[in-house]
Amino acid sequence: MRVQLTETILRDANQSLIATRLPYSVYEPILSKMDQAGYYSIECWGGATFDTCLRYLDEDPWERLRGLRRNLPNSRLQMLLRGQNLLGYKHYPDSVVKKFVELSIKNGIDVIRIFDALNDFRNIEVALEATKEFATEKTIASGCISYTQSPVHTVEKYVEMCKELQRMGFDTICLKDMAGTMSPFEADSLIKGIKDAIGDMPVILHTHCTTGMAYMTYMKAVDAGIDVIDTATSCFSGGTSQPATETMFYALEQMGIETGIDEKVIKEVNDFFKPIKEGYIKDGTLNPKSLSTDSQALVYKVPGGMLSNMIANLTDMRAMDKFDAALVEIPKVRADLGYPPLVTPMSQMVGTQAVMNCIAGPYKAVSKEVKAYFRGEYGNPPAPVNPELAKQILGDEAPIDCRAVDSAPTTMFEDARAKLGELAQSDEDVMSYICFPNQAEEFLKKRQAKANGTWVDPAAPKAPARETLGTPGAMPAAAPQVSGNAVIYTVSCEQVS
Ligand code: CO
Repeated sequence: MRVQLTETILRDANQSLIATRLPYSVYEPILSKMDQAGYYSIECWGGATFDTCLRYLDEDPWERLRGLRRNLPNSRLQMLLRGQNLLGYKHYPDSVVKKFVELSIKNGIDVIRIFDALNDFRNIEVALEATKEFATEKTIASGCISYTQSPVHTVEKYVEMCKELQRMGFDTICLKDMAGTMSPFEADSLIKGIKDAIGDMPVILHTHCTTGMAYMTYMKAVDAGIDVIDTATSCFSGGTSQPATETMFYALEQMGIETGIDEKVIKEVNDFFKPIKEGYIKDGTLNPKSLSTDSQALVYKVPGGMLSNMIANLTDMRAMDKFDAALVEIPKVRADLGYPPLVTPMSQMVGTQAVMNCIAGPYKAVSKEVKAYFRGEYGNPPAPVNPELAKQILGDEAPIDCRAVDSAPTTMFEDARAKLGELAQSDEDVMSYICFPNQAEEFLKKRQAKANGTWVDPAAPKAPARETLGTPGAMPAAAPQVSGNAVIYTVSCEQVS
C-alpha cells in the first residue's frame, strides 16, 4: 500500500500561518534538499503567493517560479488555480485563462489543482482544456472539489461530482477541506464512496488542523484508500496549517505503508525552517493564535478566517454586540443562497450579509456581490436560491443561464499589453498586470526605474524584517454608506483556501 505526501510549506502553510510573507530568497537555500525528499509534489505557487510577491515582497512571481523550477528539477511543482477566476475573484475571458495556463506550464508548473468556489464545473472546463493542450509528460490536471457540509452536500452528491470530473478528463481528484471541518467519520464514508465509483483514479485529500480533526481525518482517509495527503514540514504545521509531514510519515511507515519519503531529508528540511519560524514569531508575522486549535468552526461550520473577518467588520462598525446574532444568521443566509461552500469569496459574502441582516434587518441592505451572485454571475449554486428573495433582490431582472464570461470581451490580453507599453517586457508581465493591475503596475514601474538608475527608495529600510514582511491580518470592511434608500456595502476579502 502506498500513500504519498504533498509538502505545503511554500504555499498553503506559508499562507495560513504567515499571510504568505515568505520571500523566495529566504527558502532558496533548502530547495535542492527538498528536491530529494520524495514528496508526491511541492505546492508552491498561485493565488496569494502571486499577489504577495507583487504587493509586499517586490518579487516577480514568474521569476520565483523559474527559480523553483531550476532548484527542484526532480520534483513536481504544484499550483492552485481558481478555474475561470485564475488567482482572483472575477471571471476572465477564456483566451486569458488559456494564456495563463500556458505560461504557468512554460515557467515550470507540473500539477495544476483547479477548483471553483461553487463547484460549478463549467468554470473549470477551460483551465482543464488548456492544461491538456499545453501539457508536458509531467503535467497533471487535478480536478478539485470545495468541500463543505450542508443538507444538500451528501456522499452521493460528492460521488456524482467526482464522476463528472473523471468524465471531464482530469488525471486526479482532490477534496479540498479549506475549513478543516471534515470529520474522520465523514472522510471514511466519503472516500470509500468515491473510490468505489471512480476506480483507480488517484484521490487526494487537503485539510487544515484548525479544528483539531485533521490527523484523525487523514488516518481514516488512509484506511479508506486515499492516495495523497497534504502535509506541512512540522515547524510550520498545526493550527490553521496542515498536519505535520514528519508525523504522518512516522505513522504511515509503522503501518507498513510506503510513502517514498526520505526520513533524513525531511528532518533537514524542518531544521532549516525552524529558525525562520522563530523569526516570524518574534516580529509578529506569525500570531501564536494561528497555531492553536479552534473548535468554533465545528459548531458554526464556517472557516476560522471567516470568523476573524466578521469580528474585524463588527469591531469596525462598533457592533460587536451583534456577533452572536450574526453567527445564528449565517446558516439562514447560507440556505437562502443555496448552500454555497464557504470558501473565498463566498465566505466573505455570506458573513457580511449575516452581519448586515443583524444590523439593518433581513436583506434591507444587500452587497453588490450578493446581487451579482443572485444574478448567476458566480455560477450555479449547489441548491436553488430562495425564490422570494431572488425576486426581491433582482426585481424583474432575469438571472443569466450561461457562464458569466460567455459575453465578455476577448481582447483583454492585447489591451493590457498596449496599456503597459514599455513597462511589459514579456507575456508574463502582461499576465501579472491582468491578475493584479495596481500591484503589477507599481512593481513594473519600480523595476523600470531600477534598470534606468532612477529609482529612489521612498523609505530607506529601517527595520527590514518588519518592512518587507508587512502586517498580516484581515482588511477591515468599509462602514456602509447610506444614500437615500440605498446602502452601499463593501465586502472585504481575506483568502480562505
Ligand atoms: Co488550504
